[in-house]
Order: sequence, then structure tokens, then C-alpha cells
Amino acid sequence: MPATDLLTIDRLNVYYAESHILRDVSLTVPEHKVACLMGRNGAGKTTLLKSVMGLLPARSGQVQFAGENITTRCPDERARRGMGYVPQGREIFPTLTVQENLVLGLLAAKQPKNGIPDEIFHLFPILKTMLKRRGGDLSGGQQQQLALARAMLSHPRLLLLDEPTEGIQPSIIDEIEDVITRIKEQKAVSILLVEQYLEFAWRLADFYYIMEKGSIVAHGTTEELSEEVAHRHLAI
Ligand SMILES: Nc1ncnc2c1ncn2[C@@H]1O[C@H](COP(=O)(O)OP(=O)(O)OP(=O)(O)O)[C@@H](O)[C@H]1O
Ligand SMILES: [Mg+2]
Repeated sequence: MPATDLLTIDRLNVYYAESHILRDVSLTVPEHKVACLMGRNGAGKTTLLKSVMGLLPARSGQVQFAGENITTRCPDERARRGMGYVPQGREIFPTLTVQENLVLGLLAAKQPKNGIPDEIFHLFPILKTMLKRRGGDLSGGQQQQLALARAMLSHPRLLLLDEPTEGIQPSIIDEIEDVITRIKEQKAVSILLVEQYLEFAWRLADFYYIMEKGSIVAHGTTEELSEEVAHRHLAI
């Protein structure tokens, strides 16, 4: 049975003032799959995730989510429909504790009465041992887990992850990979992952898209992604 597409982006054009950043970008993320968007610094990857989340307006083109055209919907509405966003740099609250960061996630998900569900600690066992620690005192990998946990509190159908391995020690990257794999398998979410660390993307993703100067220049299944294509577009 072919998977249905949860997210479909069709010829999206996005500008910052008069700078044309995204150029006719088309991309799909099937139900329960991981698509990885790769590209060099400044290619437009973050701009695309922000546009999908509704933080930047589309000049033309369409964003469809779960079969509906949501191109002009606000971010709040997109979150309610099941999009979760973990921005680049994680953006947790450094002076608040882990518990407080999670409670704010519950408030944002409009579920403050239920408390932090146990399933969050099944997905992120490390956080249970750190509830009283300040977010800013956690390691980069732990902060990334906290940011992911916060996004999971709203039970997203689609997670938008912007460079989860950025600034994280190589020895910890495997832990982030394990967590994302668990999220994918246990929660059956779809993921649009922006990632520059090729090996990580290769292992996690079902599909890849490569962006250059705001255009998709190559895409396919990750199995088909050859070293030659990867290095041609991604080598520094
Ligand atoms: N707020 C902004 N105003 C104007 N131009 C911007 C703004 N943010 C980004 N840009 C420009 O848009 C282009 C794409 O930036 P974007 O942040 O989407 O790239 P990226 O692929 O995420 O890069 P990186 O890998 O460094 O995170 C760049 O040329 C950047 O300079
Ligand atoms: Mg970026």
C-alpha cells in the first residue's frame, strides 16, 4: 500500500523583503516517514521550515497538510492541526528548570491540567533525572532532548527539526539519533529533518532533498543517494 503524503509543498516561493529566497520548492513528506533536507549554509533550509510552520508568508505556491491547503494559516493553527517545530539552536528557556520548560510546553499545547505524561519520560528517560536542573546547565545533547520533548507534548503528526546535531559532540550524536528513531517508531510521526551531518541523515531518513540557493537540485530515496551526488552538492 503506498504511503499517503502528510505534507505536500508545491512550487513555494518565499521572500525576505525583496530577496527571493525559496524558488519553486516542491517537496513531500509521506505519513510515518522521515524526509531530510540538506544543503550548505545559507541555502534556505531554515527558511523552508519557517514557511512550513507559517512563520514566513508564501509569495506563491501551496502548502498542504493532511490533505488541506494551509498556505495562509497562522502558526498557531498549524500547531493545532499537528505540526511541531524544534528551531535551530533549540531555543529552550535557559534560566527555567527542565520541569518548567516542559510545563510551558504543556501550556503551549493547551493541556496544562494533564501534567507531564509518562510517555515523555519513556521517550526521554534522561529528562526524568534532571527535572530540577536549569535548562541552561544541561549539555547540548540534553537540551536538544528537552526541545524535542517539548515539541512532543502537543502530540504532533509532523515534526520539523532544524539541525538537531548542530553544536553537539560527536559522541552524543548517536543518542539524538536513538531518540529520533524512537519517536518515529513509537509515535508514528512524520519528520522533516534539516541536517548537514550526512551520515546521520543517511541513517535516519527515508527520503532526501538537496537545496542549493533556494532550489531543490536533487531528491530521491536515501537508498538511492550516491556518495557522488552527496559530495557534489554538499561538500564544503
Ligand atoms: N531574517 C532574514 N532577513 C533577510 N534575509 C535572511 C533572513 N534570514 C535568512 N536570510 C537569508 O536567507 C538565505 C537563507 O537562509 P537560511 O537561514 O534559510 O539558510 P540555511 O540553509 O538554514 O542556513 P544554515 O545552514 O546556515 O542554517 C540566506 O541568504 C540568508 O542570508
Ligand atoms: Mg538554518
